[in-house]
Amino acid sequence: MKSIKVGLLGIGTVGSGTFNVLKRNQEEIARRAGRGIEITMVADLNTERATELTNGEVKVVNDANLVVNDPDIDIVIELIGGYGLAKDLVLKAIANGKHVVTANKALIATHGNEIFKAAQEKGVMVAFEAAVAGGIPIIKALREGLTANRIQWIAGIINGTTNFILSEMRDKGLDFDVVLKEAQRLGYAEADPTFDIEGVDAAHKLTIMASIAFGIPVQFDKAHVEGITKLQATDIRYAEQLGYRIKLLGITRQTANGIELRVHPTLIPSGRLIANVEGAMNAVMVRGDAVGETLYYGKGAGSEPTASAVIADLVDITRLATADPEHRVPYLAFQPHAMASTPVLPIQDVTTSYYLRMHVADKPGVLADVTRILADSSISIDAMLQKEPSEGETQTDIIMLTHQTQERNIEAAIAKIEALSTVVGTVMKIRLEELG
Ligand code: HSE
Repeated sequence: MKSIKVGLLGIGTVGSGTFNVLKRNQEEIARRAGRGIEITMVADLNTERATELTNGEVKVVNDANLVVNDPDIDIVIELIGGYGLAKDLVLKAIANGKHVVTANKALIATHGNEIFKAAQEKGVMVAFEAAVAGGIPIIKALREGLTANRIQWIAGIINGTTNFILSEMRDKGLDFDVVLKEAQRLGYAEADPTFDIEGVDAAHKLTIMASIAFGIPVQFDKAHVEGITKLQATDIRYAEQLGYRIKLLGITRQTANGIELRVHPTLIPSGRLIANVEGAMNAVMVRGDAVGETLYYGKGAGSEPTASAVIADLVDITRLATADPEHRVPYLAFQPHAMASTPVLPIQDVTTSYYLRMHVADKPGVLADVTRILADSSISIDAMLQKEPSEGETQTDIIMLTHQTQERNIEAAIAKIEALSTVVGTVMKIRLEELG
């Protein structure tokens, strides 16, 4: 059978990885796919570099429209990123009857509903394994491997940059700004790291996983997003003394009232496997009612790890290209007519436990005032740490871990605690998950 023809939009880190792995493993891949998979056309603004990276073996153009309009191309790989041009090209490719593979999490998390609808109407596939956690086949696991389950929750370390920064902060006791600079110097963090450090990248990935897990439309705008910029080395140290590590987690959970969808720094027990995922690695925990807890670990970024996911999608599409569209795996795991309208909960309605750090005057009655406020709000204390004031100091830190309570409840209690004349400045609040 003649090979399937692929057009590549953007040949940067992931694009060149895809080209190289596809070439290196072509025989193995063809044995799996049932026919050859061949990149025959590449669009990139830097045509010279693109020609060099593809050893002059493929047609290189500087206008991506030439690829999405080429009648010989069966599958378009979109690796441009962003929502503007990339969205336009993906929709054009679909309109031209081409299947699409994309690593673009921002595009799927914000415009996925529109893209899937267009693809369904046209009877083509849109695959996006590389959009979530790089080389970890988490989309495949959620959409197919765990299909028997009612998914209860997902908790993931799905941003390598922030995990690298948090690991360094813990290891070396350094503050966020110092480690960020080092991460940029080493090339782990981008020159503009905003999407990573503010939690946006993780929220894009979480939004996609939540849709597949619970059969809801993608709703990035409903996600609660907090990054790691306010974290201090002090909190990482105190958390450790209490038996916890702080990770930037993406958490989505089905509750009786709706779906939680949140990214924020989180204390997790240091004995959990996921708490020990260090450096730029990614890991995703999924709890299903039948299977229990499962854990997926690997590289969440990088040239060949991400290419591994892109090519898995190419193979899937190649195998299913001739199948009746009705018999393919639905984009978001659930049949389009069976999607749920379960609401995504605002953060005030989320129930979890909390780490609170407050700086207080070291004198009688302060602790009693704080615990009274918590007791009056029916917030139960799980553990507490009070530091000896340093030599000559009259103020000290109190750290408390609470049992579960609603976010609106803890917020009200914190406002009262901050109003006490003996409490200096603001209370640091970090959410805590046992993941048990
Ligand atoms: N910037 C992402 C990260 C990788 O740091 O994990 C691409 O999603």
